Amino acid sequence: MVAQICFLLNNREVCTSQTPGTTVLDYLRQTEKFIGTKVGCREGGCGSCTVLLGELKGEQVDYKVVPSCLLPLGELQGKHLVTVEGINQSQLSVVQQAIIDFGATQCGFCTPGIVMSLTGYLLGNETQLSEEGIKKALSGNLCRCTGYASLKRVGAFLVKLFGNRTKLTISDLIAEKIIPEYFQNVPVHLSHLAPTALENGQSTPNFVIAGGTDIYVQQGDIIPDSQVTLLNHSWVREMKGIRICNRQIHIGALTTFAEFATHPKIIKLIPDIQTYVQQIASWQIRNRATLGGNIVAASPLGDGSIMLLGLESLLVLKKGVERRILPMKDFFLGYKKTAKKPGEILTEIVIPIPSLPTKFNFEKISKRQYLDCAIVNSAMKVRCEGDIIREIAVSMGGVSAIPLLLKQTSAYFLDKKLSVKTIQGVFPVLQQEISPISGVHGSADYKRLLARQVLIAHFTKLFPEFLQVRDFYATN
Ligand SMILES: Cc1cc2nc3c(=O)[nH]c(=O)nc-3n(C[C@H](O)[C@H](O)[C@H](O)COP(=O)(O)OP(=O)(O)OC[C@H]3O[C@@H](n4cnc5c(N)ncnc54)[C@H](O)[C@@H]3O)c2cc1C
Ligand code: FES
Ligand code: FES
Repeated sequence: MVAQICFLLNNREVCTSQTPGTTVLDYLRQTEKFIGTKVGCREGGCGSCTVLLGELKGEQVDYKVVPSCLLPLGELQGKHLVTVEGINQSQLSVVQQAIIDFGATQCGFCTPGIVMSLTGYLLGNETQLSEEGIKKALSGNLCRCTGYASLKRVGAFLVKLFGNRTKLTISDLIAEKIIPEYFQNVPVHLSHLAPTALENGQSTPNFVIAGGTDIYVQQGDIIPDSQVTLLNHSWVREMKGIRICNRQIHIGALTTFAEFATHPKIIKLIPDIQTYVQQIASWQIRNRATLGGNIVAASPLGDGSIMLLGLESLLVLKKGVERRILPMKDFFLGYKKTAKKPGEILTEIVIPIPSLPTKFNFEKISKRQYLDCAIVNSAMKVRCEGDIIREIAVSMGGVSAIPLLLKQTSAYFLDKKLSVKTIQGVFPVLQQEISPISGVHGSADYKRLLARQVLIAHFTKLFPEFLQVRDFYATN
């Protein structure tokens, strides 16, 4: 018997026996003929296919803004999928009307995605709406014709309208004509649907999918016709959530970048985590992309890999009842090659909690501030006693075939004084330890220069009382 995927599509329950790897975008447009959701890049980069995905959490539904082109249909089981058709009411919603009033649409191709991102922002957990928040909410939506000034005016209008509210509830949003009335009944409706009934029963799947934001870009043409395992349906408890145990932070491999950046335990460990994570992809992608997927994809530029490597993390790998723990620095073997054995699943990332007063910094150099991969990225964890470096780990991406823990560079610093001389002294060691190649992101020489600059940035940001950027240029 073919497994059925049952979910709430706007205000209607649907069940389908299409393959779980079919993208939600194709399902919507080809099966449901819901063509309000547009097809642009099919790679998560334009936002034209943006939809809302609601999941029952307790008695409330938690809505996330996600790209439907990278979303497997099987993930919808027991959830609420909202398309632009699903927010239609007898009149335009406040968001739609504002887009018209401020001239923020021309050809209209990007508009449904923008409407969904803005609606998702208002529906989300923001305690205080802000123009800056709206700008970030639109970081994954490209518009080729209108330009963004009019969209900023829409944002300013929405903030003026609702900005003084601490939190907009579903009832508020219905009363304000942002979403239709049927949203009120969604929690009850979802409670009757099994949350993860889908078990496709295949023992040897072709594809293991977490957030899908990497694998659909690479293999999107063949996944719909292949056997898949959707890890988000996994019952391995430790793959979800973040917990502290024995002075270690255990992070489930399915933790998304959005969850990572907002978790109180992570904010305590890395106070600037939100600033760092905002440089990764877009809001839509961060709502889906997992830390585990970032590591296993093994890109030499993976931002999550670089941060977690700098924190000297450990990885927990499981296959059936077998379980092993591997230092993350030993996981990457070559370009996109890892020590993961066939059939193994990365279940947890474990960060040993550093002793106080350890400091952490992450740097990402890319051509654009948002929605761009790094040319070079780097993380540094360091503990000093006074001005003497006692513990340090520096990781760097884009300078080798793998995300690299700079062992020799880190070792050089030990027990040395925080000074321009120390940092300049490490440059030859650093240059010897890295092996960047020229490519579309920049020449090898340029990456060598950036490697040096990010080290300076780490120290000057973390220890402004000892080191200033100008000190390096005054002595050069
Ligand atoms: C528009 C766009 C922008 C992006 N920008 C960035 C960026 O700025 N920085 C960045 O680092 N990345 C970026 N990415 C890449 C991607 O989003 C990340 O690498 C993401 O973390 C991958 O996670 P995922 O859960 O989506 O992985 P998936 O696509 O689901 O999986 C990736 C690979 O890992 C395997 N896998 C996943 N989880 C596990 C597990 N737990 N155990 C075993 N195998 C597993 C899968 O089988 C697959 O081979 C971007 C992607 C897009 C589409
Ligand atoms: S089609 Fe471009 S993000 Fe999905
Ligand atoms: S209005 Fe044409 S792409 Fe945005």
